[in-house]
Amino acid sequence: MVHHWQQVLSDHWGITAALTPLNGEYDQNFLAQGEHDYVMKIMRPDCQASFIDLQCRALEHIRTQAPDVHVPAVCRSIRGDMFLAVADEGGAERLVWVIERLPGKTFAEFKPRTDGLMFDVGRAVGQMGLALSGFAHPALERDFKWNLMQSDWILDCLDMVEGHDRRALLDCIVAEFSAVLPLLRDLPNVAIHNDVNDYNILVRGSLSEPPRVSGLIDLGDMCAGPRICDLAITCAYMVLGQENPEKALQSVVAGYHSIWPLTEADVDLLWPLLRMRLAVSVVNSALMASEYPDDPYVVISQKPAWQFLENPSVSGDLIKARLRAACGLPVTGAAPRILSWLDHQRGQFAPVVGKPLDGMAMRSLSVERSVIPRDPFAAETEAMADGQSSENIWLGYYGEPRLIYTGPAFQTGPWKASNRRTVHLGIDVFCVSGTQVFAPVPATVHSVENCCGRPGQGGVVVLRHETPDGDPFFTLYGHLDPEVCGRLKAGQQIKEGEAFARLGDAAQCGGWHPHVHFQLILSTEGIAEHWPGAADPDELGLWGALSPNPAALLNLPDADMVYQPADKTKLLAERARCFGENLRLSYADPVMLLRGWRHHLFDEWGRPYLDAYNNVPHVGHAHPRIQAVAADQLLRMNSNTRYLHPAQVAFAEKITSKLPESLSVCFFVNSGSEANELALRLARAASGGRDMVTPDHGYHGNTTGAIDLSAYKFNAKGGIGQSDWVHLVEVADDYRGRHRREDPDRAEKYAAQVDKALAAIADRGGKLAGFIAETFPSVGGQIIPPKGYLAKVYARIRSAGGICIADEVQTGLGRLGDYYFGFEQQGAVPDIVVLGKPIGNGHPLGVVVTTREIADAFARGPEFFSTFGGSTLSCRIGKEVLDIVDDEGLMKNAQHMGTQLLAGLRTMAERHPLIGDVRGFGLFIGVDLVTDRNSRTPATQAANYVKNRLREHRVLIGCEGPADNILKIRPPLTVDDQAVDMILILLDQVLDEAENLCGKTGYPPTPVFNR
Ligand SMILES: Cc1ncc(COP(=O)(O)O)c(C=O)c1O
Repeated sequence: MVHHWQQVLSDHWGITAALTPLNGEYDQNFLAQGEHDYVMKIMRPDCQASFIDLQCRALEHIRTQAPDVHVPAVCRSIRGDMFLAVADEGGAERLVWVIERLPGKTFAEFKPRTDGLMFDVGRAVGQMGLALSGFAHPALERDFKWNLMQSDWILDCLDMVEGHDRRALLDCIVAEFSAVLPLLRDLPNVAIHNDVNDYNILVRGSLSEPPRVSGLIDLGDMCAGPRICDLAITCAYMVLGQENPEKALQSVVAGYHSIWPLTEADVDLLWPLLRMRLAVSVVNSALMASEYPDDPYVVISQKPAWQFLENPSVSGDLIKARLRAACGLPVTGAAPRILSWLDHQRGQFAPVVGKPLDGMAMRSLSVERSVIPRDPFAAETEAMADGQSSENIWLGYYGEPRLIYTGPAFQTGPWKASNRRTVHLGIDVFCVSGTQVFAPVPATVHSVENCCGRPGQGGVVVLRHETPDGDPFFTLYGHLDPEVCGRLKAGQQIKEGEAFARLGDAAQCGGWHPHVHFQLILSTEGIAEHWPGAADPDELGLWGALSPNPAALLNLPDADMVYQPADKTKLLAERARCFGENLRLSYADPVMLLRGWRHHLFDEWGRPYLDAYNNVPHVGHAHPRIQAVAADQLLRMNSNTRYLHPAQVAFAEKITSKLPESLSVCFFVNSGSEANELALRLARAASGGRDMVTPDHGYHGNTTGAIDLSAYKFNAKGGIGQSDWVHLVEVADDYRGRHRREDPDRAEKYAAQVDKALAAIADRGGKLAGFIAETFPSVGGQIIPPKGYLAKVYARIRSAGGICIADEVQTGLGRLGDYYFGFEQQGAVPDIVVLGKPIGNGHPLGVVVTTREIADAFARGPEFFSTFGGSTLSCRIGKEVLDIVDDEGLMKNAQHMGTQLLAGLRTMAERHPLIGDVRGFGLFIGVDLVTDRNSRTPATQAANYVKNRLREHRVLIGCEGPADNILKIRPPLTVDDQAVDMILILLDQVLDEAENLCGKTGYPPTPVFNR
């Protein structure tokens, strides 16, 4: 058979190609691969020529009218025909046509389904629709089951669907559809694709390019209909299998609207049409199932549609408003009229607390300007009644992101680092409890509720008002004295300026200073009585439109009442102006971080992030004990080591208590760099030598001497190169290096490289000062040298008269779980230990600890003094950090959580070919990504993709190693089970995406043909 059609292709189209059969519902299609790739379509024997003519002409029309839309070109035959009638092997006449094969994977097979991709699907469908709207063909007028306008045929078949609840649901969908059918019939009919499903959209994307639609195919279901049907059908497929279907829907619709603007009426039709299309689909499969009872696929294929239709958390109630807001259209027809009336009447409304509010002080509770609450995860918000005289009135901003909304009801996802509803949708008016609350305009009571059970809500009243044009709107008053609940009844009339409630007291308002939360609401449609007073920052388009700034009703200017969070774009520009280009930012979309708590951070909108990267906040961000100690010392005095203070000795004793006895003398400085610089001086003073041996790819700091010792920097592009006194040995990387794990002698072999370095020093007539290494090389790629390596190196260095320096900036202080310092794991005792980063938990602090003998040698030189190193403040903070590690059992936690994390990562490695190696101790972890496990080629792009995608999912990690392909996981030691789960689950998901994008076995992505 294949040979026959190959011959046809060659004879009539002049194309020589190998044919591979493709799946097709009715027709015989082949993938034709030759110089170019084509799809050869051999239609079923009874196929009408007009049907093929329709498709070919539509494709040619789209390609000429809208060259930006990617649809396949029709390859005309040698004679110039779009299609031909050719006899098959059995002699039956078949219509045959050939189209170009477009690149990309089907949407169904593609991951990730980003918001950007959903938007692009909408755009592509809009572009194609717009092009088709000028296309006419007699075959477009056809009756068939997939024509949405004719879809009420399913009414007669509902009995085929099993389950009473399901049939009831379908009844309801059909009723909603019937209600909008007259509106649909009034809309103009145009040519529509009518089947943009997930197998008819082709997508291209790579690890470095965001996914985009690369083609729309299969016009076999074309018909004439209202264009909104085309979009609704697309949407019906795009919501399936989505974690957040509303968001996906909103992106598709916004994309379409950006190309071919929709009206409010169009948008309102989408939900009933989308559901009707899915209803047709599930009923059709029920019919098929009865026809083909042995085909399990018929039922399985309908699973996602039922899942969506039956998903209780996907509600159509707010969908109209959501989709309108996504298109920038008014959320209700009356919204523009109401807002304009309110604006016009500004200054004439009855004062809500009986006094004019203009000129009253503003008080911010924002993420940026406030430190309330201290613990943004605590179930109860602490009192915020501080500092203000209760006689004063002050105001709280509209649109202000706040961390005070801490309860689980505000969390919008499964993790602590999931988004939460942070953005205030009202204006707060703070004044004394018992202050009367007045209606700004005549009102009818809409609802009264006692919400004292919910923290800080008190009594809540919603009033209904009408503009002179008869447009209804609502105002909400929260934190009232709950006595109002016994007094006011829904339906009760309230006059303009009439007092109807009083402010609750602090006890009724969750300890807050008494205030009324005043909110404007444009529509209650689709909202049960629980109106959100705060919105998810990523949902502000919807909620901000439904509950706009109520300043006009308070007779205040809008601009003064709306909070302006720090503007990221502006800050970026200013940063570029103020700093050099090599001051880098992490992530393609940099993060602005304003608050932190333990292992979480918060951006300017209060979005939380799990910090799985920063080792400086060793005992957690914003630790209250560190804050207290710092505040206490700053209250007293802060001076230097030229004066006696018990804190200096206390800190030194605490550190040395953790170290081998020989390491007993401390020097305090301000950074890791400075500490390494000093360590170098100590080594030189003690040895009398100058030359240093150090592993490749190391990093020891940014000062002149430290850079000389850091191959990671001096050998980097534009680096200063290697100094003559620095001698590199290979880093003892037994995964990718010269000597690998299967070699039992690898520790010795790596250590033996020191012999060559010593010989090189002798050759140049130099003298050895010592050896410096990060105990576990971090920027080199979270490397764990083979056990015993360091002890063997130290022995060689010492016998050559050198001093051994352990840079424990990354590894020290319990991070490794099993070991307080990395050198313990290596069975080695250094002569000098360097500490930095975590020891100040964010306060600039570095420490060098050495032997008495080395300290004495150094003391023969000039006085050692560091103005800020060893300041009283630094000593107290440093000691506190070490005490907290002990008191809170953080080393044990690192061991426990690290074990879980490493185990999870190792299990994950079994199903992710991208993972070449998982290594680490405690919470010092590296995940080495490779394009191929045999060659161990670094998967740099994949690592960058994973890092940035995890950041989008609110997990902060980094990439390390000479090729930047090693995922670095190095969180504060406070991480808990949930944090470990979040890292594992999201990493798994993101690795899946990365593997999908690059093809599991290597680059470049292999195109998979659509069916
Ligand atoms: C191992 C190591 N040593 C020294 C330093 C330098 O510390 P600082 O940046 O505090 O000067 C760093 C910083 O990343 C480091 O990782």
